[in-house]
Amino acid sequence: MPKPNMLLHNVSLKPYNTFGINVNALLFMEIDNNTTLEEVLYSKQYPDPLIIGGGSNILFTKDVERLVIHLNTKGIEILSKTPNHAKVKVQAGEVWHDFVCWAIAHDLGGIENLSLIPGNVGTAPIQNIGAYGVELKDVFVSCQALDLKENRQVTFKKEDCSFGYRDSVFKRNKGRYIITSVILKLTTKDHYKNISYGAIQSKLREKGINDPSIQQISNAVISIRQSKLPDPKILGNGGSFFKNPVVSMNQFRDLQEQYPDMPHYSFGENQIKIPAGWLIEQCGYKGKRFQEVGVHKNQALVLVNYGNAKGEQLWELAQKIQKSVQNKFNIYIEPEVNIY
Ligand code: EPU
Repeated sequence: MPKPNMLLHNVSLKPYNTFGINVNALLFMEIDNNTTLEEVLYSKQYPDPLIIGGGSNILFTKDVERLVIHLNTKGIEILSKTPNHAKVKVQAGEVWHDFVCWAIAHDLGGIENLSLIPGNVGTAPIQNIGAYGVELKDVFVSCQALDLKENRQVTFKKEDCSFGYRDSVFKRNKGRYIITSVILKLTTKDHYKNISYGAIQSKLREKGINDPSIQQISNAVISIRQSKLPDPKILGNGGSFFKNPVVSMNQFRDLQEQYPDMPHYSFGENQIKIPAGWLIEQCGYKGKRFQEVGVHKNQALVLVNYGNAKGEQLWELAQKIQKSVQNKFNIYIEPEVNIY
């Protein structure tokens, strides 16, 4: 662990990205408090700094010739409690899954379906992280951010965030806002349990559980994720590499004639979401390895680093997959991870 709040030169970012790509940051600082963060960012001494949290959603294809800040601010605070809810403020550098575990240990519900998602609390709103029928926006109240354009602190209420599927105002204004803390509203009793997702139902049935606790839901989610998604500590990856594409009803009907078994979900009024993992599998990539990079054997949406991959190799594979899906299905699949 580097000394916090000190400027370092030429630091390998390998431990700071879950793909495990070995690139260097020209300048690097680990920051553990918001005062230093503001000082460094507002000084404008380091143009266009790159902030990383858990590093779970970035693919580095080159060295970073500017300041990289690893945000490591910690703290969880219950702000208020009503008979049914608690508002909890969490600092950006808290590890998302550790926070989920803390919430469950305090019998606070609402995020158990989001167990084991890699990354930190401060980056969760950028992607509006989601899994198994729940998205961050479902529990989100507000967040504090630094606006680097105006050099000031801003509060974003939920309605200011334009949350969508893996999308938000923060994603659309890359580099402008740095989220420093997040406030979430969690249930203290009568937890609303979202167990509609098929895989959760079968996991609970397998264990003979009818009325699961939030801990049991979390356990089921962890077990499903572990069976499909590789552990980045063992096999470098960034979770889903692409977003699931959304197509028009007309395009979907044409495709369905050709591929009657194509899995699909309705999306909004008149659109259909298709699992990118299925499209990629149909193109023959599932489980394929190309030297140091490959497509995971249990989930075709996950691209992996077998150990010594360069970011460019993963990006080349991703582009090859994009082309194949485009040619076979006439569907563009957009990366979910940020390519640097
Ligand atoms: N499928 C295949 N082959 C594959 C993978 C998937 O045919 O190799 C098909 C199957 O029909 C399967 C369906 O796709 O039933 C959906 O697969 P899965 O349940 O694994 O979910 P996903 O749509 O691939 C999304 C999220 C995940 C999230 C899961 C569960 C995106 C881009 N990904 O994946 O999020 O955990 O749903 O809710 O929306 C992430 O964002 O990094 C992530 C892992």
